[in-house]
Amino acid sequence: MRLYHAPASPFVRKVMVLLHETGATGRVTLVPASGNPLDPGTLPVDRNPLGKIPALERPDGPTLYDSRVITRYLDDLLGAGLYPAAPRLWDTLVIEATGDGIAEAAVLMRYETQVRPEATRSPDWTEAQWQKIARALTALEERWISHLSGPLDMGQIAVGAALGYLDFRHGGRDWRALHPGLASWYAAFAERPAMRATAPDA
Ligand code: BEZ
Repeated sequence: MRLYHAPASPFVRKVMVLLHETGATGRVTLVPASGNPLDPGTLPVDRNPLGKIPALERPDGPTLYDSRVITRYLDDLLGAGLYPAAPRLWDTLVIEATGDGIAEAAVLMRYETQVRPEATRSPDWTEAQWQKIARALTALEERWISHLSGPLDMGQIAVGAALGYLDFRHGGRDWRALHPGLASWYAAFAERPAMRATAPDA
């Protein structure tokens, strides 16, 4: 299998953490890919018409995207058990969607300053993205710490990847200040070997 990959992407990181947690990194060849909404660069637009990573080429069917489809596929292929049986599954999926939503808003904030021409930037729009993140962090803090502290699942991995991206690109926002329970959970989660092995550094 070939995985279109950039170490900074929190969505790629979800897939990589799954592969590390399951000891399956050797099953995948990483294909470097970079670009942005204004310049697709080496993003695999012929494999994913949305021009986004991760995308996973596999031997038994069309290329898979987005990260949630890839993680469901790999979980099934590897028998990883990172999506528990219902009814716990519904909680896992909501938490995964919450983590992905945080990451999505945080990446849009990054694009706003790094990709959009300065004259067309909107501080209000950027702040609205941060408010979305702040609401999601509050939901995790108030409702989901107990689940996050349970057996490893893709909800935890998605939240871990999203919080790692906040630290990586938006460290100045100090998300921990208003979310001490989540900060405490993440301090332990970030020490997992799979998280340490996939930390973005550039
Ligand atoms: C980043 O550099 O922040 C980034 C790279 C790839 C995908 C998303 C974000």
